[in-house]
Amino acid sequence: MCGIVGYIGEQEKKKIILDGLKELEYRGYDSAGMAVLKDDEITHFKSVGKLENLAKKTKDFESIGFGLAIGHTRWATHGKPTELNAHPHFGKFSYIVHNGIIENYQEIKKELISKKYNFLSQTDSEVIVHLFEENLKENEPFIAFEKTINTLQGTYAILLMTKAEPNKIFFAKNLVPLIIGKNDKKEVFFGSSDTPLIGLAKDVIYLNDKDYGYAQKDNIVIYNGKKPKSLEWNKLSISKLSAQKDGYRFFMEKEIYEQSSISNETLMGRVLKDDIKFENLEESFFDDINEIKICACGTSFHAALTSSYLFERISKIRVSVEIASEFRYKESLLQKGTLFIVISQSGETADTLQALKIAKKAGLKTLAICNVDNSSIVRISDKTLLTRAGIEKGVASTKAFTTQILVLWMLSLKLAKNKGKISKAFLENEIKNLLKVPTVLKVDEKIHEKIRRLSKRYLHGHGFFFIGRDIFYPLALEGALKLKEISYLHAEGYPSGEMKHGPIALADSELFTVALMPKNTLYEKTKSNVEELSARDATILAISPKTFDIADDFIKTKDHDHPMLEFLEMGVILQLLSLEISIRLGNDVDMPRNLAKSVTVE
Ligand code: G6P
Repeated sequence: MCGIVGYIGEQEKKKIILDGLKELEYRGYDSAGMAVLKDDEITHFKSVGKLENLAKKTKDFESIGFGLAIGHTRWATHGKPTELNAHPHFGKFSYIVHNGIIENYQEIKKELISKKYNFLSQTDSEVIVHLFEENLKENEPFIAFEKTINTLQGTYAILLMTKAEPNKIFFAKNLVPLIIGKNDKKEVFFGSSDTPLIGLAKDVIYLNDKDYGYAQKDNIVIYNGKKPKSLEWNKLSISKLSAQKDGYRFFMEKEIYEQSSISNETLMGRVLKDDIKFENLEESFFDDINEIKICACGTSFHAALTSSYLFERISKIRVSVEIASEFRYKESLLQKGTLFIVISQSGETADTLQALKIAKKAGLKTLAICNVDNSSIVRISDKTLLTRAGIEKGVASTKAFTTQILVLWMLSLKLAKNKGKISKAFLENEIKNLLKVPTVLKVDEKIHEKIRRLSKRYLHGHGFFFIGRDIFYPLALEGALKLKEISYLHAEGYPSGEMKHGPIALADSELFTVALMPKNTLYEKTKSNVEELSARDATILAISPKTFDIADDFIKTKDHDHPMLEFLEMGVILQLLSLEISIRLGNDVDMPRNLAKSVTVE
């Protein structure tokens, strides 16, 4: 993930770009840069590390008076975080910033190198600016830009400035966000989200995929498929907080809804046609690994537990999963050849961090799955796979969990392929299903509405059991944890088959059972367990693609042919269920009592 901003107007451009990038820092902050075009001159700055380094570098630079500016905060995908790889990238007289991945950059680069273009960076993005300048040889700037965009495959939000047209910023968007704003002073703003524009722009346009065009101070033109579009302006909220919530009642709700688009970022550049590829993780990383141990806390522990089914089933590798606070005093027998994985949204959880330190001390290879780059856990681990969920504000984790699951699913496939445990056809089918994830994660408004209605029934009673089998058991644990965290109701996750060994004694009509009944995983077995509970009068909320008549309430899921897709859809439903119950109880959903987002104490 990267963040981009742009500006056309009279104000101090440096300040607008730096302030805007600050709002987008959550999208990545391993390097940053900006370029300002004023009086036919382009000045640019780049720096490695956090934004404050760019601020220091531009301390003596002033840019008042009419001009254009573009800025970028980077989260590296192609090429290390160095100044050369930081944006803006430039040619002889043009500059670009880009968020996304240009999938066919290698072919374009080869062609441009044969035409004697000189590449300074290892990025995929740099091809855009050279290709534009190549197209400019025989075309006027807008046509050159259009031709450039038409050549690109992949995901992009692009801003381009060129001395060949010094009053315009050219822009394009596909599959990653880009927003244009304007105000009465004829100023124009761009941002990867609307938060950098708040307080500056009055009206905004949320660009659609494949939109491209240009902006100048009193004119904005947007094309899609060769045709100009009419401009649909929306009023921009004036409150940062409510804008950040995008009209949702709580951050948690917003974060549940954004899982679909965020999952694109998690998969981006990693899911190839017939392979899984992780940036900065060389193939040899898995050599000599014959066992995996995973440590985590809370929701991240549930992601870990889910992955243990995948690693053993798909990658055929032995896995043990431990709660970090237990592991740290257990004096576990650690053996060389064990890959030690830690999972943490924040990267700062004290118990997980300590577990990591113990593993490092024992000389194990370590891998972090984390959402926050540069966090303590990321800095200490040998390697990191970032989940790219963006900042998560709700204390109850939602999108961080989902993206952890995606990374772990991809990792189990990578490892399986690496160790020759799966066929080409199997991998291709998994990839096909991975690519369906963004659609599966889209919240179904009808289901949300139904949950809102039926949540009324589930406010009292003497407790909840969430039950499931296989990977749906850790999901049941996660469903119960979500509910506990924000509703303060007692809830337990249990393996369905274990209910008869004690918990069934609690069954009566005041015992609520949320049953996860996927069609692809042990449906009949789970069904029998639910019937046993129903026979003892427990109140059943069944979640399944198959109609289940004896349930008191029933949420019908879609008919997916892959258990992970069923898992992800049910995950969203459980998140919505706890959200709606918590709202009905009048709780503070985003900041539940007694909890903290990042627990840095033991
Ligand atoms: C806290 C949070 C949980 C979270 C756990 C682990 O307890 O309230 O929501 O799952 O920490 O956090 P981590 O950042 O390591 O994933």
